[in-house]
Amino acid sequence: MQVLGIDVGGTGIKANIVDTDTGEMAGEKFKIKTPSPSTPDAIIECLKEVVSNYDWKGKKVGIGFPSVIKNGTSLTASNISPLFINYPINDAFSKALGCDVVVVNDADSAGIAEMTYGKGRGINGLVIFITLGTGIGSALFYNGQLLANTELGHLKYKKSVFEKYASNYAREYHHLSWKKWAKELDTYLNHLCLLLSPDLILIGGGVSKNFDLYKQYLDVPVKVDTASLYNDAGIIGAAMAARG
Ligand code: BGC
Repeated sequence: MQVLGIDVGGTGIKANIVDTDTGEMAGEKFKIKTPSPSTPDAIIECLKEVVSNYDWKGKKVGIGFPSVIKNGTSLTASNISPLFINYPINDAFSKALGCDVVVVNDADSAGIAEMTYGKGRGINGLVIFITLGTGIGSALFYNGQLLANTELGHLKYKKSVFEKYASNYAREYHHLSWKKWAKELDTYLNHLCLLLSPDLILIGGGVSKNFDLYKQYLDVPVKVDTASLYNDAGIIGAAMAARG
């Protein structure tokens, strides 16, 4: 089945048609910048552009979104407009786009793709998938089963939460060397291990491509690996989540 998968991030919106039976992209990737401010109206305008680019009106759309999503409502907004707090996102997007839209948390959608088609495939026990981008997203899988909306990037750390120190955005914003930033990441990953005793940690998001530049600074008591689908995981997983 073909579903239009859209990954809405803090800085960019990426989309493609996905064959949900194989996890393959079936079209040309389409990218636009996330509008600022990222209000629901502004995001909807971008999504309309995506839908018309693929001539997808009336069909199925899956969206990964940087918010806790419960029963079709977005509940949090750390890296997106606060107008998305308690916003009926499934209904509003479906109506505005004239499509059958399903929205899920962006880390959960990327994790679903990685567990199905990437390095998480067939792995039992506890897998923590984290995305290091504008924020830190997390998806927890136990024997392949997703525990949705975990928000482990928001564990308290120093004066704020871990995503303010160990996300890729934090590295860029504070002009940290890979070594300095990796120290924060190492503290974060060790904290996750202490709390959850995972069997595997998979790192996704753009920075997973640079793993060779910082893996030597990580000293974590469990295997840490990069996700294999890189930035496409969000698009593929969003489409898979919408298929159900
Ligand atoms: C949000 C999460 C999201 C993550 C990655 C965090 O700030 O709270 O819901 O998964 O960023 O986008």
